[in-house]
Amino acid sequence: MCDSCKKKFYITTPIYYPSDKLHIGHSYCTVATDTMARYKRLRGYDVMFLTGTDEHGQKIETKAKTAGVTPQQFVDNIVLGEKGVIDLWKLMNISYDRFIRTTDDYHVAAIQKIFKTMYDKGDIYKGKYTGMYCTPCESFWTDSQLKDGKCPDCGRPCQPAEEEAYFFRLTKYAEPVRKLLTETDFLEPRSRVNEMVNNFIDAGLEDLCVSRTSFTWGVPVDFDPGHVVYVWVDALFNYTTALGFMNDKYDDYKDFWPADVHFVGKEIVRFHSIIWPAMLMSMGMPLPKKVYGHGWLLLDGGKMSKSKGNVVDPYLLAERYGTDALRFFLMRSFPFGSDGNFSNELLISCINTDLANDLGNLVSRTVAMVQKYFGGRLPKEQQADPALDDALIAMAGGLHEKYEEQMERYAFQNALSEVFAVISRANKYIDETAPWILAKDESKRPRLARVMYNLLETVRICAGLLTPVMPATAEEIRSRIGAPAYDWDNLCVYGVLPAEAAVTAGPALFPRIDAEKELAELEALKAASEKPAEDPLPEPLPPVSFDEFCKVEMTVVKVLTCENVKKSEKLLKFTLNDGTDTPRQILSGIAKFYKPEELIGKTLVAVTNLPPRKMMGQESCGMLLSAERGDKLHLVMLDDAIPAGARLV
Ligand code: ME8
Repeated sequence: MCDSCKKKFYITTPIYYPSDKLHIGHSYCTVATDTMARYKRLRGYDVMFLTGTDEHGQKIETKAKTAGVTPQQFVDNIVLGEKGVIDLWKLMNISYDRFIRTTDDYHVAAIQKIFKTMYDKGDIYKGKYTGMYCTPCESFWTDSQLKDGKCPDCGRPCQPAEEEAYFFRLTKYAEPVRKLLTETDFLEPRSRVNEMVNNFIDAGLEDLCVSRTSFTWGVPVDFDPGHVVYVWVDALFNYTTALGFMNDKYDDYKDFWPADVHFVGKEIVRFHSIIWPAMLMSMGMPLPKKVYGHGWLLLDGGKMSKSKGNVVDPYLLAERYGTDALRFFLMRSFPFGSDGNFSNELLISCINTDLANDLGNLVSRTVAMVQKYFGGRLPKEQQADPALDDALIAMAGGLHEKYEEQMERYAFQNALSEVFAVISRANKYIDETAPWILAKDESKRPRLARVMYNLLETVRICAGLLTPVMPATAEEIRSRIGAPAYDWDNLCVYGVLPAEAAVTAGPALFPRIDAEKELAELEALKAASEKPAEDPLPEPLPPVSFDEFCKVEMTVVKVLTCENVKKSEKLLKFTLNDGTDTPRQILSGIAKFYKPEELIGKTLVAVTNLPPRKMMGQESCGMLLSAERGDKLHLVMLDDAIPAGARLV
């Protein structure tokens, strides 16, 4: 069927904030979205899967400044650089159709038009903002929203802020949004609806501050220089600009909008289920069909997040266990709508139990038996035994219905449980039919062939339905059992493999992991990665002119004598050859770091045009240059071939 005749399905992830490298918590939502996108493709839909990065805002501006780069360089590094966002999605085998960066020109221009449209309509107006601002979350909060005076999202302190700003008339849309939440199934899971209605709408919505003047890294309000668009307005409309809304870059808006579903983490449900529909109503645009607020991956009971330092590195896990195993673990172990506790134990046990024991064993035993008993190809002559076969055939043949029911509710964990129930049943079928006994009796060959066929066909259906979660593994299994390309129609039918099915062996799909040894290795890796971080770099100093710099006289000196200063723990007293006939005396506070005798004869640098000063009653004529990092000082030592008295220029 041509793409234009197919039913459309548009699904999005939140666009990620590239202030730090992403962790496994970020991969969770994207793997879920990818699973859903692949499932819909398998169902024959023309899918648009959008992801991207949300690159503006004060936090990025501040981080870039600290790193000494421009905000654009800063985000380019995290998005495009090694082990950046794009690399991570490659690693996780994410099949996105489009990637938007909010710094893309077409998006910036579209946001300016969107902002102006709401302004012209009277839904955005100019006023003055006084309130509490959480810089890390880029969120303004009313006093009633603060939790113990702190940001209700991240628990960090907020600062009072006042600025001239534009406001969006959120209050005007309070009732339509309430209706949307309470009278439709726009927001799921339904448990999140009460939270939105009680905590935000009933608590009293206020108009939303949608521009900033206190920093510049954002989309400029083109009709009022000095203002930049609030990062959430900029970010939310990505879902439409990436389809070509108010820009010429793309042309799919009419095909794919409204979105079928936005997958978002629970802490940003507020933005997606209140602010987003209100702004779309203002723009006169259709609303997305659904917002699904998933839970968090927790580590040690708290949300995994870079700022808490409790993150798990997806690169490390994918390298050790493989991308498919990691994807499977994320979808199989946690109910999507609730929080889940990540642990290495859980990951290893999931791989060992489901993948190595159940799936891996079923595939390798089946293929090995077809090879051993039939040289790799089944004979045509086969004999059924309904008493033993029908239960398995009914389960495998009916699996698609149960699976579909769960997938359509985004219940990935349940969908996988259905598949693994059939896999377990097939393993049990091997025990019940005891092929090794059938193989001993030549007259039972047709029966043995049918047993093998049932196993291969069950493997085909299960592996096909695992495609959305484990695309590479599903394909590997398909090629080992010689099955045709998976499509929804052939996964709904039992008996697609030809009677004379042929198999090819391969290495274990998921080798069993020695849990104890593996956990010890992971612990060791963790300990190594938790070594105290380097001391932060000092704040940059204001610039000096070249002329000012040239006024500092820096002279190469040789240490003639060096001794501790009595009653001082800090000071060493040096006599130095500075190239003149008179030795120079300098006192330096580095006694903690050097023994006097190890410095004799060394070539150092002294600032020699400072006025003399007294320290512990002794005169110091100049200062020895040393380098400081953290609380450690290192004398600057030069090549001994440089003569005393040479000037540093
Ligand atoms: O929120 N477990 O970006 P973001 C599960 N730019 N999900 C997690 C998680 C965890 N431990 N940590 C993060 C933003 N996430 C905005 C979105 S959309 C128009 C703008 C999820 O990079 C988080 O819940 O901070 C969110 O859905 C997503 O990662 C991106 O988070």
